[in-house]
Amino acid sequence: MNYDKIVLFESERIKLTKKVISKSYAKIILFGEHSVVYGQPAIALPLYSVDVHAEISLEPSGQTLSSRYYEGPIADMSNNLLGVKTLIDHILNELGKSSANFKMTITSQIPSERGMGSSAATAIAITRALYQYFDVPLNREKLLKEALIEEKITHGNPSGIDTATASSHFPIWFIKHKENAQITFNLADYNLVIADSGIKGKTADAVSLIARNMVDDSDNTKPLIDDLGRIATEAKRAIITGDGSKIGDLMYQSQQRLHDLGVSTPTLDKLVSTSKKAGALGAKLTGSGLGGCMIALTDSTTTAQRLATELRKAGATQTWIQSFKNYGFNGEKQNDNVVQ
Ligand code: PMV
Repeated sequence: MNYDKIVLFESERIKLTKKVISKSYAKIILFGEHSVVYGQPAIALPLYSVDVHAEISLEPSGQTLSSRYYEGPIADMSNNLLGVKTLIDHILNELGKSSANFKMTITSQIPSERGMGSSAATAIAITRALYQYFDVPLNREKLLKEALIEEKITHGNPSGIDTATASSHFPIWFIKHKENAQITFNLADYNLVIADSGIKGKTADAVSLIARNMVDDSDNTKPLIDDLGRIATEAKRAIITGDGSKIGDLMYQSQQRLHDLGVSTPTLDKLVSTSKKAGALGAKLTGSGLGGCMIALTDSTTTAQRLATELRKAGATQTWIQSFKNYGFNGEKQNDNVVQ
C-alpha cells in the first residue's frame, strides 16, 4: 500500500474542508456613553447571550460573503457595507492573501443600530476569523486597531469602547486611548433587563449633536459631560462593593444628564419611567440614544421578568434579561496573544 499517497490525500482533505469560526459579543454601556468621547471614563459589558459568529471556509474560487444584509461577491458589496468591505480588503492585503478563495458567513443575533454594538462586534468577529483562517497570531491591541478601521467608516469618530467591549470576556473600565481594564464586578444577585425602543439609534447624529453643543453651548454641555464622568467613577466603586441601590440611583442620574444633552427620546423616557414604576433599582438609555435600547437593573429574576413584560406592554419591541451571575472577577486575564 502506498502510505505516502494516503497521507497526501488526508492533508488535501483537511485543506479542502478547512473552516474556522470566531465570535464576539453584543455590548452594553452601563455608564459613560458620549462622555467617553471627551476622555471621561465609561463602564461597559459584553452580553454573553447575544453574539456574532464569523465563519470562513475554503471555496474553489472567489471571495463571497453571506450575511443578513448581503449575499454575494465581496468585491460587489454595496456602500452601506463599506466599513466591512474595507476591513476585509485591508486585512487580506496586510496578510498577503488578497487572491485567496473563501466564503465568509456572518450570523448575528445583535439587532443593528440599537446601541448594542452590532457593527463593532461584526468587525471583531471578522478580524478574528481572518487571522485564524490564515494562521496568523493576533494580539488584542492589533485586533482593536484592525476593527477600528470598520468603525471609523461606519461611525465617524468612535471612542473605541464598542470594539473594546465586543472583544472582551469581562466587563471593562474604559478611558479613550488610556485604559481598557477588566473591572471587579460584584453583582451576582442582580439582573439587567434590556429593552429595544424599536427605533433605530443614530450614533453619528447623536455624537455630532453633542460635538456641536460642546462648541456652541459649552456652558451647559460641558458640565453634563463632566458629570457623566463623575457618575461613572462613583459607579465603579459601587460595582466593586456590590451596592446595587447606589448603582441604580446613578443610572437614573445618568439618564437625566443624557436627556439634558438631548439624546433621549419620548419612547426611551417612557421605558425608563415604566421601569421605575415596576420596581427597577435604576434605568437609563444605553449607547448613543436618539433611539436604540434602554437598560434597567433589578435585584431579582422575578422582578426582571415582570419588568420585561411591562416594558413590552409599554412599547418595547424586544427585551433580553442578562443575569450577572457569570460576570464576577475571576482573576483571569484577557488572553492577549492568541486568536480566540
Ligand atoms: O454605537 P452606540 O450606539 O453603541 O454608541 C457608542 C457610544 C458613544 O459613546 C455614543 C460613541 C462612542 O464612540 O463612544
